[in-house]
Amino acid sequence: MTGHPKILLVASETMPFVKTGGLADVVGALAKSLISLGVDARVMVPKHAIIKSGYQDELDTIASTAIELGWRKEYLGVQTLEADGVTYYFIDNEDYFGGAVYRGGKAENEQYLFFCKAVCEALALIDFDPDILHLNDWHTGMIPMLLKTHYQSRFDKERRLLFTIHNIEFQGKMGFDLVGDMLGVSDYYYTPEYIEAGGCANMLKAGLVFADRISTVSPTYADELMYPWFGQGMEGILSARRHDVCGILNGIDTEVFDPETDSDIAANFSQSNMTDKRACKKALREELSFNVKLTTPVIAMVTRMTRQKGMDLVRYALEELLQEDVAFVILGAGESQYEDFFNYIAAKYPEKTGVYIGYNEPLAHRIYAGADFLLMPSEFEPCGLSQMIAQRYGTLPIVRETGGLVDTVAPYNIYTGEGTGFAFTTFNAHDMMAAVHLALSTYKNKPILRKLRKNAMLAQNGFLKSAEQYKALYKSML
Ligand code: ADP
Ligand code: GLC
Repeated sequence: MTGHPKILLVASETMPFVKTGGLADVVGALAKSLISLGVDARVMVPKHAIIKSGYQDELDTIASTAIELGWRKEYLGVQTLEADGVTYYFIDNEDYFGGAVYRGGKAENEQYLFFCKAVCEALALIDFDPDILHLNDWHTGMIPMLLKTHYQSRFDKERRLLFTIHNIEFQGKMGFDLVGDMLGVSDYYYTPEYIEAGGCANMLKAGLVFADRISTVSPTYADELMYPWFGQGMEGILSARRHDVCGILNGIDTEVFDPETDSDIAANFSQSNMTDKRACKKALREELSFNVKLTTPVIAMVTRMTRQKGMDLVRYALEELLQEDVAFVILGAGESQYEDFFNYIAAKYPEKTGVYIGYNEPLAHRIYAGADFLLMPSEFEPCGLSQMIAQRYGTLPIVRETGGLVDTVAPYNIYTGEGTGFAFTTFNAHDMMAAVHLALSTYKNKPILRKLRKNAMLAQNGFLKSAEQYKALYKSML
């Protein structure tokens, strides 16, 4: 082949249209960066209700048809739009995508079984003939199997398939009946060799078995996934395919997250002129109405409130932490046990805490800009973007050494003065507090604090590096 392979990225969410977490950031940033490297990369996602509300007038309809879904016929619309030089394709069906991005339970399985089938059908409808389908997470897991079985004779060209694991915790497990009913898949494939795992049909496993290559979002997580604790039942297939698995570290969109130009923050600042980071801190104090001195360190979290993110450690240690001269800020949503806890903390310590339960993108920017430290004590972390975003805003991450947190945060070395943040190893609240205490004592040492902030802001976390590695991987697949 001459020139670069053409890539279709397929995922459940993408920036700038729909985001619930890092997956959307990565898909959007990868597409943009590949384009800047001269690769024709396009993106296909469901047309979620939230997209419809903002972009309806700008969408062009490519196809409006009906497809077979098991014994039924379902509507399939394919629409398109260009943003930031990237062409996006949207799979339209109100029944499946007219509400929440993730409906939970069986309804969510149905959403994404439909999506997998619809993507295969849409390949014949769009004006783009990709060489590689780059599939992301379990929502796309049935596509490799469908293309290599049902659709094998339908397309002249055999497309190569890359499957990327962003988080192995989510696998899309369901009864096989549903898969058979919606996709017409024979129970021949319902064995441990193919899509069965632990008595369920497993969409992630289907992706891992049928894709040509597998990647994940950091080198350390790629190693960790070979072990049962991290692999969550997939360590066997991943170990068996070890030579097809690689880890490519995520980056961040340095245009979206840029303290020098960010229009969401109170004042812009840069590594060479940090004075206005103070203005951001002051504005954050007003916005979230906590009331500590401007010199008091602010420890922040921007996170899904789930066990993965170390919420149990924070719940255990937060009241002890709040006895010190600190303020604690959290923006997030998730499990009600954690949301309730933070609401309780906000009521009990109004002067020292700022709690926002919900999803709020501009506020996230203001927290990254205004805080002094970002706490991320994850139990596991495939990559993590928040710690990289924080570094870009001179906010030092305090992380547990797991997955991508190992690959992106250089822990402060008290002997050499090097580092871009703070880290602890064991998943334990006391160890986390030791790292927090080191951060707080370092905060008082202004020359060192300045140096660490500078190191963090100069860390090369942009997505281009990652996109270059994906480009090399795509080439090696042909
Ligand atoms: P994950 O994808 O596991 O949730 P990442 O660190 O990879 O974790 O990415 C999380 C992304 O979502 C970051 O861009 C972070 O700023 C953003 N984010 C998380 N929670 C919220 C929230 N409540 N409001 C706004 N942005 C959020
Ligand atoms: C997942 C992971 C997170 C990663 C993101 C993007 O949501 O939990 O660690 O950064 O995907 O790859």
